[in-house]
Amino acid sequence: MSELSYQKCINPDCAATFGISETLHCCPTCGALLDVEYEWSRLALPPRLSDFEKYWSQRSNPHRFSGVWRFHDLLPFVPLEQCVTIGEGQTLLQKADFVAPYAGMNNGRLFLQYEGLNPSGSFKDNGMSAAVTHGRTVGAKRAACASTGNTSASLAIYSAVTKLMQSVIFIGSGKIAYGKLSQALDYGAKTIQIDGDFDDAMARVQEVSKQLGIYLVNSINPFRLEGQKTIMFRVLEALRWESPDWIVVPGGNLGNSSSFGKAFIELHKLGLIKKVPRLAIINATGANTLYRLVEQENVTWNGGRYDKQRVNGFFAKMDSEGQRASTIASAIEINKPVNLTKCLRAIDFCKGVVRDVTEQEILDAKSQVGAGGLGCEPASAASLAGTRKLVNEGVIGRDERVVCVLTGHQLKDPNATVAYHGQDKEFFQKVLGSRGVTTAEFANRPITVPNDIEKIIEVLK
Ligand code: F0G
Repeated sequence: MSELSYQKCINPDCAATFGISETLHCCPTCGALLDVEYEWSRLALPPRLSDFEKYWSQRSNPHRFSGVWRFHDLLPFVPLEQCVTIGEGQTLLQKADFVAPYAGMNNGRLFLQYEGLNPSGSFKDNGMSAAVTHGRTVGAKRAACASTGNTSASLAIYSAVTKLMQSVIFIGSGKIAYGKLSQALDYGAKTIQIDGDFDDAMARVQEVSKQLGIYLVNSINPFRLEGQKTIMFRVLEALRWESPDWIVVPGGNLGNSSSFGKAFIELHKLGLIKKVPRLAIINATGANTLYRLVEQENVTWNGGRYDKQRVNGFFAKMDSEGQRASTIASAIEINKPVNLTKCLRAIDFCKGVVRDVTEQEILDAKSQVGAGGLGCEPASAASLAGTRKLVNEGVIGRDERVVCVLTGHQLKDPNATVAYHGQDKEFFQKVLGSRGVTTAEFANRPITVPNDIEKIIEVLK
């Protein structure tokens, strides 16, 4: 199987290739990111996407039950029997008429892809199953990541359930949601808290894993992105294999947007889809590197020859001015996205747009998602807030078919939710007011009543 897949540098002027069993963070020749590539013509692929439906009847096989590995034909970097699964990818595309009016859209046109249903509570499990699979094939004994919460919870659960490798997580002090930290601690991850933010932790974990030969599972790992392609395969599956008009996704380290782009590039090249959806990537205003580079500095993929000088200058200025990412949407509180270049490629192929949304827009959108019964963490709600903005601008049509990816579960960050809905003004100020959130227009306030049956009945009449 191995010669049917390989790793390849995405820089067209380098394009070096490497074996599938090599563990590399990026191209050793030029430093660019790597892709996992396949010799598609030598692989047996189903002729139509609907042929994947034959696997539905094989759900007693854990690999076919998995929402990642039932699409193994489209990410066959190791044989199916060797793939690691803990039941990831049982997620739902939900028609979201309850939030369509908020987004300014017509009924029946807005869908939410709820990735919070994964075993660790976020989309990360899609990629982690693939990264841990690769880690196992190269004999990794330890795996590491930097995280704002979800990646660490995901690595920790795979490590605890499969016992294949010890998990080591790097977090910035005070920069992790407690719901997520509790998972990593409970699942037994070795937790290294460093003085700094996610960008610092990300830089350190790359150095440390290189020096100590620890397997790195952040989304710079190209195998992780293979697993994340399947989020799009499941969206297509739920839409009976028809492409939507738009995919809207929050942008942090830009792994999702990069992997979605790769999924559509491959499906299109293989003749499995005709129409390529457009991609909208949504930053928080306090962490809007992609927005500024793409929409203000006009940086484009340009066939892989993007304006490196402009990008490097942008980051040099960021460092010299000591700019730090800052948003309540902790999962996307990232100023130096490692997948920037792959994301530029995705934007190019999918005619993508980038927007940034304020803390207020994120919190209001989050309350709308919650009122519909799904619930999501703040970062995920950026996709709905971004959709609303793009509909308002007339970029997304009210009648287009739009899929917002809800990347993480509502229970990650209960502080933000309780501060928004609650009556405690001090708590509101501490958690949200200090970040520029001034109102909670859609709050569902709890009612305080004395412990007295008459009074309780009174408020329920
Ligand atoms: N949404 C959620 C819920 C996330 O956890 C993350 C990333 C993103 C969006 C951003 O996705 O990197 O693919 O653009 N969380 C990382 C973590 C940083 O450590 O869990 P991206």
